[in-house]
Amino acid sequence: MIKPILFLLFMTSLSFAEQSVFLNYANQPMGSVEEPLLLRTFMPKGDLQDSVLSNHHLGKNSPKYNAKLGKDVPGKYIPITGLPAAIGVNYGKRLSYCWDTVECRLLYAWSDGFLNMQKYWGDPKRGNRQSFGYVPDLVGDVFYVASGEHPIRVNGKAVEAPQFIGYRKIDNRFIYKFKTKLGQEVQTEIKVMAESNSLEQHVELVGARGGKLDYYTSQIPGIAMKRISEKKIVVTIKHGTLKKYVIIKTKPLTVKDVSAINGEKIFNSMACITCHSIDGSDSHGPTLKAIADSPRPIIGMEKMILADDAYLKESILTPNKKIVKGFPPNYMPPFTLKENELKSLILYIKTLKNE
Ligand code: HEC
Repeated sequence: MIKPILFLLFMTSLSFAEQSVFLNYANQPMGSVEEPLLLRTFMPKGDLQDSVLSNHHLGKNSPKYNAKLGKDVPGKYIPITGLPAAIGVNYGKRLSYCWDTVECRLLYAWSDGFLNMQKYWGDPKRGNRQSFGYVPDLVGDVFYVASGEHPIRVNGKAVEAPQFIGYRKIDNRFIYKFKTKLGQEVQTEIKVMAESNSLEQHVELVGARGGKLDYYTSQIPGIAMKRISEKKIVVTIKHGTLKKYVIIKTKPLTVKDVSAINGEKIFNSMACITCHSIDGSDSHGPTLKAIADSPRPIIGMEKMILADDAYLKESILTPNKKIVKGFPPNYMPPFTLKENELKSLILYIKTLKNE
């Protein structure tokens, strides 16, 4: 099956820079020092403080609106915890970093891995996405995390409300350009160094407006600034590992006893919850509240079908057999479950009655 999201990403990355690294269906793409890989994708927020993301206007939890009912319903939308306009660059095991086009600064850097795109691109074996997460997972050892206000100072003032202009690739280097609120143009280049857990940032004031460039370094361990000229500085970041991110392989949940409690555990662990609410509001799929033992409207059938145990079992194992009116076919993936797991799930769905 073709993955439209992958191709979209593929095309955008090709049109922005002369990429000669080809993405494949592996979920852990990697570049090399000679041929770095740049991805424009959602990037994880990681341990970044909100003060670093002051221009992102991170959304607060908001009430859930049901279009059919025309009013708010119980439940909350959880804002996406990813950074939508960030750039991830990988130089193989040596260096990865995240440069953000909203804040126009380096957000974090790590070595010994890049990103696990599984959540975003889906499982290569199954050929489709399993969850609705758009944010890939970090893999490797993080050695730098930005904190506080923008570290670049022009004439003694920290950069505010920056505007991204664009980036260029020259050989294996990426050069980012942005404008400050006062109209000064700043260019930063991030260079890979011979050792891991280190990088070099070359910052330069370009364009007609003059001024003196500085970098906020005090109190930040492992950061050193060298002045080349009034308009040009080199910042070296070198630090031990702050946090390790490894791929955690979740073991499939195995239940022994048949019970509604075990059914709830399966419901949550098998991502049913990403498509089915239990509070009466429809999402990607119909709510499962109060459907058990009640009549269901099915596409192509005049009479309603009673959602008895056999119906529920069939809906889970072969979702395409009967499609609930108002919902798309081929949307719910078929699940393979053991008999006791299936029975537990059905018991759980039966507990979701009207209060
Ligand atoms: C990717 C989204 C998705 C996931 C994940 C998913 N479902 Fe569904 N499900 C749907 C959609 C869409 C429908 C309605 C279309 C249809 O009938 O197939 C549906 C229908 C159903 C129905 C019939 C509901 C009715 O109103 O009659 C049941 C029962 C059900 N799903 C249970 C489950 C369980 C249990 C899981 C987890 C093991 C699960 N689903 C996971 C999308 C999903």
